Amino acid sequence: ACVGLATLGFVQEAGAQEPVVKSYSNYTVLRTAPLTQQQAAALLDMEGRQGLDWWTVPKADKSADVAAAPEARPQLEQRLRGLGVAHEVIFQNLQDHVSAIDTEQYRGKLLSARRDSDNYIDNKRYLDYGEVEDYISLLKKNHPNRVRVYDIGQTFEGRTMRVVHLSNCFYCNYSAVFVDAGIHAREWIAPAVALHALSQLAENETANAEMREGLDWFFLPVANPDGYEYTHTTDRLWRKTRSTIQNSRCLGADPNRNFDYYWNSVGASKNPCSETFAGRSAFSEKEASNMRGFLWEHRFRLKLYITYHSYGNYILYPWGYKADDPEDVDTLRSVAMKANQAMVEAGSKPYTIGSSTQTLYAAAGGSDDWVKGFLNVPLSYTIELPGYKYGFQLPTSLIDEVARQSFEGLRAFAREVKSLS
Ligand code: ARG
Ligand code: ZN
Repeated sequence: ACVGLATLGFVQEAGAQEPVVKSYSNYTVLRTAPLTQQQAAALLDMEGRQGLDWWTVPKADKSADVAAAPEARPQLEQRLRGLGVAHEVIFQNLQDHVSAIDTEQYRGKLLSARRDSDNYIDNKRYLDYGEVEDYISLLKKNHPNRVRVYDIGQTFEGRTMRVVHLSNCFYCNYSAVFVDAGIHAREWIAPAVALHALSQLAENETANAEMREGLDWFFLPVANPDGYEYTHTTDRLWRKTRSTIQNSRCLGADPNRNFDYYWNSVGASKNPCSETFAGRSAFSEKEASNMRGFLWEHRFRLKLYITYHSYGNYILYPWGYKADDPEDVDTLRSVAMKANQAMVEAGSKPYTIGSSTQTLYAAAGGSDDWVKGFLNVPLSYTIELPGYKYGFQLPTSLIDEVARQSFEGLRAFAREVKSLS
């Protein structure tokens, strides 16, 4: 993949001190067998450990994936043995996989000619942020009466965040759905899924007339552009924003711990070096605060909020900050079940449906909790897209099926929203 480096724009400006590209050479990724309650609890204790990155958090009856730096692997394996946790190596050398994806992306770049908006989203590779911006401009140019684009603010590094608004009637003030993706930088399949949905709704209107009729759509396909760009240039597995933090050499906060609803009360870290650092204060991250401004402005018409993440096949509803169910849990569940059914009919592996805390783990400061708890948007979901056996680095050959299946889920969601309002 060496040939690809310069061409892919991996070379930083002269004088930059950081390593040009983060290498995952000799990092391994282990997948445990399904854990018992005790094993999960014991492994959870190793969460903040140097050199370990839990891609999925240890949880009873589930297997967990963990990436280990070479120096951290012996200790990890010793611990797993001690606890009697069986495991397999899913990536012997993580760098090989990172390089393979680079090559795949690079080939895709040469092959796909991006001429116009209606053939831009071909689900053949992952777009970088500049391409996403170009697509949004083309969309607006080609559909001036049906598409509006809002600049919702700048990121820490000065990129512009844009929300695309689709409507059949802008002055009608229809009920609306807000979809975002890419809050976590490395979860590349999420923006791809959002972009596919956006392109279908905007450019394949006859096939999707029912979804467009009487319902407005807002899309923020890349909610953490700085992080997303960083995963394209420097560190494929970066998760957080890229903001600098006073008195710390570590960068970035977890935007999905940064929303102001029981902020930093549980499942978040005060340590700036942690992957789940909540930020110095609620909405300290410009990316989260830009979303706040926009969502607040449109709160009365929003009926459904969907935030795409990866991975694990979950449809999660609030709360993430506590174990109790919301009052309208029956509605939240039944709508999620319809979406799951539609995705399964489209060929997807079934999704696990449940509250964030009960299904995954307690974690406060998520966008989903804030949207439901603070803005009172009735339906609010985090969708953890499938990772198959690959985790975050889903091969480009799988984009299309995930995008299409997810879109059928969105169609079911839209139908439910309309039947409720
Ligand atoms: N994997 C997501 C995260 O860790 C799940 C978020 C679920 N929502 C929540 N409010 N905890 O950010
Ligand atoms: Zn995520």
